Amino acid sequence: MLVTGASRGIGRAVATAFAEGGDRVAIHHRGSAPLAEQLRDALPGEGHIVVQADVADPDAVRAMVDGAAERLGGLDVLVNNAGVYTPHPVLETSYEQWQQQWRRTLDTNLIGAANAIWCAARHMRERGGRIVNVSSRGAFRGEPGQVAYGASKAGLNSLTQSMAVALAPYGIAVAAVAPGYVETDMTNEHLKSERGADIRAQSPFNRVARADEIAAAVHWLASPAAEWASGTIIDLNGASYLRT
Ligand SMILES: NC(=O)c1ccc[n+]([C@@H]2O[C@H](COP(=O)([O-])OP(=O)(O)OC[C@H]3O[C@@H](n4cnc5c(N)ncnc54)[C@H](OP(=O)(O)O)[C@@H]3O)[C@@H](O)[C@H]2O)c1
Repeated sequence: MLVTGASRGIGRAVATAFAEGGDRVAIHHRGSAPLAEQLRDALPGEGHIVVQADVADPDAVRAMVDGAAERLGGLDVLVNNAGVYTPHPVLETSYEQWQQQWRRTLDTNLIGAANAIWCAARHMRERGGRIVNVSSRGAFRGEPGQVAYGASKAGLNSLTQSMAVALAPYGIAVAAVAPGYVETDMTNEHLKSERGADIRAQSPFNRVARADEIAAAVHWLASPAAEWASGTIIDLNGASYLRT
């Protein structure tokens, strides 16, 4: 299995869950080789590998996915987890910065995932497989300060649903998880700030998620038992946002 953005946070927890389940894992990172190598050496089981790419670079994604499949001897699971979440409030961001934020966010969170799916589907078409995309509650609830992020995740949800239909005839199931706040490097600053208590209070459990709670759902969605969940988007937000 291949998980993108596995050097830290949710991706790291996903890699751990799959290794604990007996899978061989391709740990992808962009610029965190020491973290990825440390994880590879710490995971249970054998045969785990480290792969590198900027997922916003289509050629790098192709080389990364093909390389992982070759070194693992095939590819049965892809988890698109790598993502960026940077502030760009509309009235406080220059037009030039606005262009940069939209381009970088869509290239990484949406087009990067679409390209990884294009590549992975070619390795799965004969033998079936599972693709899980890590989306966000923000796709439904809105992201007023990170609007490109919300749009990228809404696009990722649509990509998930279309791919679920397109790839089902090949035994490939495609699904997504949509977490609310999770304790990772991405959110640490928010959680430690004055807003931290308010963020925790968004959930009636009065806390945010742990990365391993997201990984458990991803692991199940990639299991043989979850074929019928293809096309779904699982809310993992501690009842902090109820969509209908
Ligand atoms: N944390 C949350 O509250 C939360 C909530 C909902 C959804 N999510 C989603 O969950 C996913 C993981 O989030 P996280 O909190 O675990 O993030 P994180 O701790 O910031 O880690 C992000 C990971 O993505 C990789 N990455 C970022 N940009 C990349 C690029 N251009 N090319 C390749 N890799 C790239 C990073 O690699 P390097 O280490 O090499 O930079 C890192 O491994 C994201 O898609 C995020 O949108 C997170």
